[in-house]
Amino acid sequence: MPKVTIDGRTIEVPEGTTILQAARMVGPEVAPPAMCYYTKLNTSGGYCRTCIVKVAQGSEKDPRPMPKPVPSCRTMVMDGMVVENETSPEIVEARKGVVEFLLANHPLDCPVCDQAGECHLQDLSYEHGSAKSRYEFDRRTFDKIDIGPYVQLHMTRCIMCYRCVKVAEQITDGRVHGVINRGDHAEISTYVEQAIDNDFSGNVIDVCPVGALTDKTFRFKSRVWFTKPVDAHRDCTTCSGKVVLWYQGEEVLRVTGRKDQWGEVEEFICNECRFEKKKTSDWTIEGVRTIDRHSVISQGKYARDLEIPAHTKKKLIK
Ligand code: SF4
Ligand code: FES
Repeated sequence: MPKVTIDGRTIEVPEGTTILQAARMVGPEVAPPAMCYYTKLNTSGGYCRTCIVKVAQGSEKDPRPMPKPVPSCRTMVMDGMVVENETSPEIVEARKGVVEFLLANHPLDCPVCDQAGECHLQDLSYEHGSAKSRYEFDRRTFDKIDIGPYVQLHMTRCIMCYRCVKVAEQITDGRVHGVINRGDHAEISTYVEQAIDNDFSGNVIDVCPVGALTDKTFRFKSRVWFTKPVDAHRDCTTCSGKVVLWYQGEEVLRVTGRKDQWGEVEEFICNECRFEKKKTSDWTIEGVRTIDRHSVISQGKYARDLEIPAHTKKKLIK
């Protein structure tokens, strides 16, 4: 098994492991941020460049460094490879540039955006960006687009990570949306404004790292850090039925998939569970969900140490 050293920490990994996967095995202290890679989606990664690292030594056999930063989500580990992420001032500086580019067209919508608090771009700019932008041109703007009955697209917020396109390609049957045009003109579009109408289309909301694809049943109802996440499940014939219910008081404001520490869903859920089961009586409650991300969503007293809504307690699994 090849051995790789990342920011001074050495690990042995299975053949075919990427630098990003190896870094995640070491731990969050060395793992580069990733805005487009998504473990559960094949061929994701390679679009955003936030995961760049320096390969200071290519391998044991060929110790030459790689001449430029490489995307860690698309570069395989070689035996004896030495990688620098946070320990490389060059990478820290280059990543600031990547963040600046991602923000070039992104609106300052955070005070009204439903994704605020669980937005990967917000966290990325806070942790890896510069305080100022040098961008002086007008940002590109788009009208809001309805994608079917449940999803709204704010193209102005999109960072072209292609995750939603991969969901449409791989999780739903009959893909009707994708990226049209290229470069500065690229945009997510439903072909001839067709609605995405199939059982798993709601997963585009969970994979979108920003607030470009939002849940129409939850829009503008609350800031996420004021809601209380609770694990619940139900017998569902379409998906695993394992979800997180987000409560405000006695009311379930939204239903999402369960996400891991990288912000990626553990299992994709169906639209019926996500959009049509908003009553506590629809679910078996398992307990409070700990949000395992170094984001404002796990910082607030609202998400931590919270009480399970009183009326759900009788349904708790022992
Ligand atoms: S809409 Fe969201 S998930 Fe789709 S490409 Fe844009 S940022 Fe990525
Ligand atoms: S996460 Fe590697 S290029 Fe986007």
